Amino acid sequence: MPADGSPRPGAEASTDWSHSVSAAPPSSSTAVPSWLEAPADANALVPSVWPASAVRDRHGLLEVGGVPVTELRERFGTPLYVLDEDEVRAHARRALDAFRAAAGLHGVQARVYYAGKAFLSTEVVRWVAEEGLAIDVCTGGELAVALAAGADPARLGFHGNNKSVPELERAVSAGVGSIVIDSWIELERLAAIVERLDATQAVLVRVNSGVHAETHDFLATAHEDQKFGFTLEDAPAAVERIRELDGLVFVGLHCHIGSQIFGSAGFRESAARVVELHAALLEGGDIPVLNLGGGFGIAYTSADDPTPIEVLAQGIADAVAQECAVRGIPIPNLAFEPGRAIVGQAGVTLYEVGTTKPVHLDDGLTRLYVSVDGGMSDNPRPALYGAQYSARIASRESDAEPALARVVGKHCESGDIVVDAEYLPGDIAPGDLLAVPATGAYCFALSSNYNYVPRPPVVAVRGGTARVIVRGETIHDLLARDAGVETSEEGNA
Ligand SMILES: Cc1ncc(COP(=O)(O)O)c(C=O)c1O
Repeated sequence: MPADGSPRPGAEASTDWSHSVSAAPPSSSTAVPSWLEAPADANALVPSVWPASAVRDRHGLLEVGGVPVTELRERFGTPLYVLDEDEVRAHARRALDAFRAAAGLHGVQARVYYAGKAFLSTEVVRWVAEEGLAIDVCTGGELAVALAAGADPARLGFHGNNKSVPELERAVSAGVGSIVIDSWIELERLAAIVERLDATQAVLVRVNSGVHAETHDFLATAHEDQKFGFTLEDAPAAVERIRELDGLVFVGLHCHIGSQIFGSAGFRESAARVVELHAALLEGGDIPVLNLGGGFGIAYTSADDPTPIEVLAQGIADAVAQECAVRGIPIPNLAFEPGRAIVGQAGVTLYEVGTTKPVHLDDGLTRLYVSVDGGMSDNPRPALYGAQYSARIASRESDAEPALARVVGKHCESGDIVVDAEYLPGDIAPGDLLAVPATGAYCFALSSNYNYVPRPPVVAVRGGTARVIVRGETIHDLLARDAGVETSEEGNA
């Protein structure tokens, strides 16, 4: 029963596993990640991973943006992506302030692009644009969303390692502010397009600084083995070629060393290498901008402790300034492209528990498998990257003993894991709502229809109201693409 004594909607007969599952397994067990600690209170919301508006009411019911999760389930069903508008806006403002202040201390300006690949919809484009951010897109589809939202094309940056001719034509015709050139073929492709369209296009050249931030560390190699950008050795020739062309205007170098980075060492090392190249290229003319990409990490679990964005911003700006001083060159204006850091913490995915099952492990532990009504189709990150998340029962509080649990989806893959390891109250049962925080970035964006599971809607919450900003798919949507099916509204079951 929920704390308020009312029956849980859709609840089935449940078993209290709290006495048969391991509450505090030995730290030597491989079943439990070393970072995971049994919580004193399995209902508590860890502030670093939840939106600031996430609270429990006096009955223990979770609300986000002032909207109770039971209301969200009733109106929109589950699974459901919930996006806290104020939280997105707050992170956008914070990033802008941080980078502007860091650059300002060195007498230059900073432009912050929101990396739309993290989560893109027309609403989110409007929110971040209203907060003063420019937007970075990396496909024709993302460009279409940004333009449909009414974004100022001059404040769009266009990325990607294989932009097609139609995508580039559309970007140039729309008047995007800058295109980041990724290869020789693309350089010549874009040169031909601007000539044909009689246009002039500002471009950056993406360089592979050889610093690759992986996990929380960085590897520095001379020739990094990956697909993006020019090597530091090849970039000068590419810039020289651009400078020969009438239709292309070289405005700066770009580099991006990876994602979910916690410390500033990798950024600083990369900045040092790119400034060296920037300095050498000044012989051929002014270079107004240096774009150092995104990748600023966020907390997914209580064990994550990312460096505050203000500290990262200052560390990077200081490193650029120092490298410029050493070379006696002016500091360029800076640009950054945070994605995850803007939307990650603003997202909560709401699931309904369908089944629970204790699985007895070899080392004597028991893991409680909790199956929810979504999974790798709405969040493939655990399967793709081994990403870790946390979870809480959202429709009630429970004083049952915390149990070692794994939250899994409904897909036909044993790797269909939503939360690999978490302590959940041992009486978690069918019908309970489960909330997974920090799902605002790269979940909706990477979602699929695997197993013909329709993609959930995205609902924005703010000040006690909830509204759909991306509608959910229906079975009708899924059948509509199958050329062998005659669709009808009845198919929309
Ligand atoms: C070029 C570029 N900029 C920015 C980003 C955004 O990264 P993040 O969401 O980690 O800030 C990415 C992510 O892959 C990227 O490739």
